[in-house]
Amino acid sequence: MLGISGSGKQPNGSNMRRKRDIIISGFSKLLKEEKLKLVAEYFENPGEVVSLLKSFWHSDASQQKLFDEFSENTISNFYIPYGVVPNVKINGRTYMVPMVIEESSVVAAASSSAKFWSERGGFHSEIISTKKVGQVHFSWTGASLSLFQLMPQIREHLVNSVTHLTKNMEKRGGGILDIELIDMTDQIPTYYQLLVTFETKDSMGANFINSVLEEFGQSLKVFMAEQIQFTDSDRQLEIIMAILSNYTPECIVKTWVECPFSELDTVDEQLDGIAFARKFQTAVRIAQVDVYRATTHNKGIYNGIDAVAIATGNDFRAIEAAGHAYAARSGRYQSLSYVECTDDLFRFVLEVPMAVGTVGGLTSLHPLAKQSLEMLGNPTAPELMMIASTMGLANNFSAVKSLTTKGIQAGHMKMHLFNILNHFKANEQEKKAAIEYFKDQTVSFANVETYIASLRK
Ligand code: MEV
Repeated sequence: MLGISGSGKQPNGSNMRRKRDIIISGFSKLLKEEKLKLVAEYFENPGEVVSLLKSFWHSDASQQKLFDEFSENTISNFYIPYGVVPNVKINGRTYMVPMVIEESSVVAAASSSAKFWSERGGFHSEIISTKKVGQVHFSWTGASLSLFQLMPQIREHLVNSVTHLTKNMEKRGGGILDIELIDMTDQIPTYYQLLVTFETKDSMGANFINSVLEEFGQSLKVFMAEQIQFTDSDRQLEIIMAILSNYTPECIVKTWVECPFSELDTVDEQLDGIAFARKFQTAVRIAQVDVYRATTHNKGIYNGIDAVAIATGNDFRAIEAAGHAYAARSGRYQSLSYVECTDDLFRFVLEVPMAVGTVGGLTSLHPLAKQSLEMLGNPTAPELMMIASTMGLANNFSAVKSLTTKGIQAGHMKMHLFNILNHFKANEQEKKAAIEYFKDQTVSFANVETYIASLRK
């Protein structure tokens, strides 16, 4: 039953404009068509809005149903370009990497970097570790020592309580690695946590970890209630919450490129290889000492990583959250990449946490995520960690290279030209002429506007 409350008048027809402060209850229970109709009433032209939203529906109703069921209150699909980057050579193997991103220059930047490094030994990547983390947060009013003394039994009890959840994961070589009790009472009175580490193999593991942790919470409560050595007031244990942590400082991939300085001679007309490497290194150092620059520098890295994460059906918010926390692990937010130069060698390294999966979640449900993984040769999760971090480093290299040589806007605005032309509803002929004209002209919104106006005179 749909309920609407608020200061606005009740709707009495399809053309009724809803007040934006109206609270709607029961919306999720409506049929999709009813939701669409209701949403359209927020616009001056409801009919056109419904047509526009429907024009983005999948032509195959069963595919559309799949998308509808990914989320709640789905009324349409939101398109983002699906691009590919060829020539991505990692540890000697060459990949065609799918990237889903709306920012015009990201795929171009990654492609130019991939080509550049494919001629200089390619990208190198290694997995440092693959542990995931989860926590059961609880309060305990009894003595801290008694909890610690009980930990061997607690550990055994908890592990036994979740065998129904862990047996399949164990068959795949994963499972619970460790359960540690942490006394946090100096931060919050009576607050403790179980810090649990997991190996989840090729799955990202969020559902597995959360199910185990919630079961741990219940089992811990039961176990402590059964300990007759505690008086009633002693045995006050309350589970506050149980959830995985997206901070995964032990799920780390390290990726780098390297070459002699002489192989950087062609990067810029003004700088030889050594001068370019020195300038590039200084730019990266600035991102290590200055938080404003570090944030933008790392954003450039996630341009590449997120695009692969989305294309393969992975949770890019989780991946980014971990990365930004990791970037601040020293107590100061810093660049995730660094430059190491020896006497004759330039090396550019990225070290990032990355919890990704190649099975489970959307990876096989979303038809394009499935296809992306196939395009990558159905990688294991560690292999996908290497591929995604490579695209992060590729984008980071391109960005810092441009910033320290010709500047970012030249390339960025060239790629943005199409967006500006589309803004002015340029036809194909005008686009063709503009592309030719702006080959040696500065692209800016104002310049394109003037140019299009001159064509249309
Ligand atoms: C833009 O999306 C990303 C850059 O700003 C990254 C950087 O400044 O390093 C170009």
